[in-house]
Amino acid sequence: MSSKTTTARKTTPKSADAPGARSVLGMRDMEPYLDQLLAEAQLLKAQNKAGALPQSLSGKAVLMIYEKNSTRTRVSFEVGVQRLGGIAINLDSQTSQLSRGESIEDTAQVLSRYGHALVYRANRHENLEALARYATVPVVNALTDLEHPCQILADWLTLREHLGDLKGKTFAYVGDGNNMAHSYLLGAPMVGMDIRVACPKGYDPDPAILEQAKALAERYGTKVKVVRKPEEAIAGADAVATDTWISMGDEAETVQRQKAFTGYTLSEEMLAAHAPNAIFLHCLPGHWGEEATYELAHGSRSVIYDEAENRMWAQMALLSRLLKSPTAW
Ligand code: CP
Ligand code: NVA
Repeated sequence: MSSKTTTARKTTPKSADAPGARSVLGMRDMEPYLDQLLAEAQLLKAQNKAGALPQSLSGKAVLMIYEKNSTRTRVSFEVGVQRLGGIAINLDSQTSQLSRGESIEDTAQVLSRYGHALVYRANRHENLEALARYATVPVVNALTDLEHPCQILADWLTLREHLGDLKGKTFAYVGDGNNMAHSYLLGAPMVGMDIRVACPKGYDPDPAILEQAKALAERYGTKVKVVRKPEEAIAGADAVATDTWISMGDEAETVQRQKAFTGYTLSEEMLAAHAPNAIFLHCLPGHWGEEATYELAHGSRSVIYDEAENRMWAQMALLSRLLKSPTAW
């Protein structure tokens, strides 16, 4: 999130509420089916190894809008959809009519006539909510300022592959209380993990998200804690993650953020001392020497490239499920 000295988000996030279609705007929209989605992603990987990927998106079109840069999300959606027999089309937001002022309402209605699902990386989470409100096909969050649920689906898949059953495990996140922190906070209780987050003062997660995470933790019998010291967050953790200190849209705060995050650089030495058995995650792109050292990110405990690959399998499972039965999971 933005520093509290600048513009903190005030809006209470909403869950998907599109009348005709089941959308995934945040982690909570996946909650009832998270286990099944992870199992389906694992099955797709196994089917691919056996040379028998189902063509479950045959005849389906997935339309994507990116208002911010992307490497992994865009390519993993495009390739994943094609591998399941469908087509994915990217609308460059700068050359589509959106950048000339066409409304989200009209865009949503029109695209719903062509495509079977819409994937949207939006500058503002409210824009994503608006698209889902007016679309008549499922809408998937490809990252907003508030959440990044597809990344967390891939991360939990990666954790399952490396750690097995996640119940009773501890996940630590060190860095900005941003979109990644939010989706981790909401997603950890759902898979039975405790979560500890360390952020510098002024860069805490959105209080509304934290409240929701605590309510989920109570329901699932897990723990949620926000602390200041990275060492306290990672102590004895099974997995440790971080993210950029300067998210897309925060560039104007670069100097002040680099100062505020001093002491939050994760290193192999730090993990060896406080979380010796932990694996290391990063959604990428990484800024080595800032949120984590190059050695940690490219060392033996790092699973960053598995995470990136798993974006594709996780999203293939998600879209297969959404498009099989778009009005009911
Ligand atoms: N992790 C992630 O979402 O990467 P991109 O910004 O490259 O899509
Ligand atoms: N927090 C980062 C994630 C990039 C995948 C951002 O929003 O820029």
